[in-house]
Amino acid sequence: MASFAETAADIAVEAGALLRYYFERRVAFEMKGDYDLVTEADRASEKLIVERLKQHFPSHSVVAEEGGGQDTSSEYRWYVDPLDGTTNFAHSFPIWNVTLGLEKAGEMVAGVVYDPTRNELFTAERGGGAFLNGKRLAVSKAARVADSLFSTGFPNHNRAVNPNIWFFHELAQTAHGVRRGGSAAIDLAWVACGRLDGFWEIGLSPWDIAAGVLLVEEAGGARSDMNGGVHELRSPHLLTDNGLIHEELLEVFAAIWRGELLHPLPPV
Ligand code: IPD
Ligand code: CA
Ligand code: CA
Repeated sequence: MASFAETAADIAVEAGALLRYYFERRVAFEMKGDYDLVTEADRASEKLIVERLKQHFPSHSVVAEEGGGQDTSSEYRWYVDPLDGTTNFAHSFPIWNVTLGLEKAGEMVAGVVYDPTRNELFTAERGGGAFLNGKRLAVSKAARVADSLFSTGFPNHNRAVNPNIWFFHELAQTAHGVRRGGSAAIDLAWVACGRLDGFWEIGLSPWDIAAGVLLVEEAGGARSDMNGGVHELRSPHLLTDNGLIHEELLEVFAAIWRGELLHPLPPV
């Protein structure tokens, strides 16, 4: 019998092919919030994924971003982001993916991130390691923030009250760089495979990160909230990295939270 991750991978690859079909034809977008885009592709992908999950696992709960899930009393719950990186997708910017993560009794047990643009399939099962197209992954070996490349993101909702620009500013001064790719699941998958040394964001939703946090942990990385507390899927913020730089990052973050900007804006 196929494992949870294998079944999720088959579903993600099928949904990814559907998304690519729409991407090549440039779909129109609608707004579901002031700055929050949604397209026909998000909905078609979610419909396909939820149907497949119901076929394979009829008793499991499904929480899907566009609202197509089902709530059951099962201890298993799938988190589905049918298209992560919708703003990129709608602008033909090629960083987006489809991601599914499975939680059992509050713990992530399987996860998949599929990036159709690069044909990269990231998979993980708790205790079984993380893989990219079948090859085992390990996080990077950067031992200092000063030698690290990071990524972060800015959610579409509550933009005006999100303090992340201060974190971006400070880390951009002290590290090799800070990227803003526009897809949290790819950010996490890229921490897992060592292309990035760390990722943080304030205000993510469980479906953005369910699979990605398991990928990072199974690749040997660290995960907490941005204060160093235990991170859960619904925590207000997330910090993941290769583990070697976690304590140093938390010290920098603590100073930023306290408002001690290490690099004040220069006068103009
Ligand atoms: C968004 C992306 C983005 C992140 C936002 C997410 P969506 O997901 O992952 O990188 O910064 O917080 O909402 O809306 O494209 O599925
Ligand atoms: Ca998302
Ligand atoms: Ca989405």
